[in-house]
Amino acid sequence: MAKVAIIYDSATHNTEMMAKAIAEGIKSEKVEVKLFHVHEADIGEIKNIDGLILGSGTYHHEIMPALEVFIERAKDVDLKGKVGAAFCSYGWSPEVVDLITNRLKGFGMETLEGLLIHEKPDEAGLEKCREFGKNIAKKVKGG
Ligand SMILES: Cc1cc2nc3c(=O)[nH]c(=O)nc-3n(C[C@H](O)[C@H](O)[C@H](O)COP(=O)(O)O)c2cc1C
Repeated sequence: MAKVAIIYDSATHNTEMMAKAIAEGIKSEKVEVKLFHVHEADIGEIKNIDGLILGSGTYHHEIMPALEVFIERAKDVDLKGKVGAAFCSYGWSPEVVDLITNRLKGFGMETLEGLLIHEKPDEAGLEKCREFGKNIAKKVKGG
């Protein structure tokens, strides 16, 4: 079975809500998901995966620091050709989703357009997250 890891950082749970809904969407396509807050994620979890999805809240226009450290460590893992995507909750500036996507591109990953949600996702936002997860799963399965 194809396997995707979702690693996120989130201070006030908005990005975490996105992460859980994205995981639901991926699972609904019969793709295995490993979902971790970055503080619980071992770098070994992203070895032998088919897709890596990274999420961060937006703080001072930057990727959250613990996720930044994780991305630095991910340089040691061969992610070339695997599917990558980013998701972010934000308040007023949308740049972090592109910052993460560019890092994934730098690993040689095949990236999808990232997903941005303003602050706490409502039901429509959560549905967008599920759809995002489904699209990632289809891509991972080769669709
Ligand atoms: C101290 C602080 C700094 C923030 N900086 C930004 C920012 O630079 N750009 C932005 O769009 N939102 C900013 N926000 C808003 C958060 O990104 C937004 O509330 C987001 O939903 C938080 O996600 P999280 O709940 O996953 O941590 C900031 C919020 C706080 C409290």
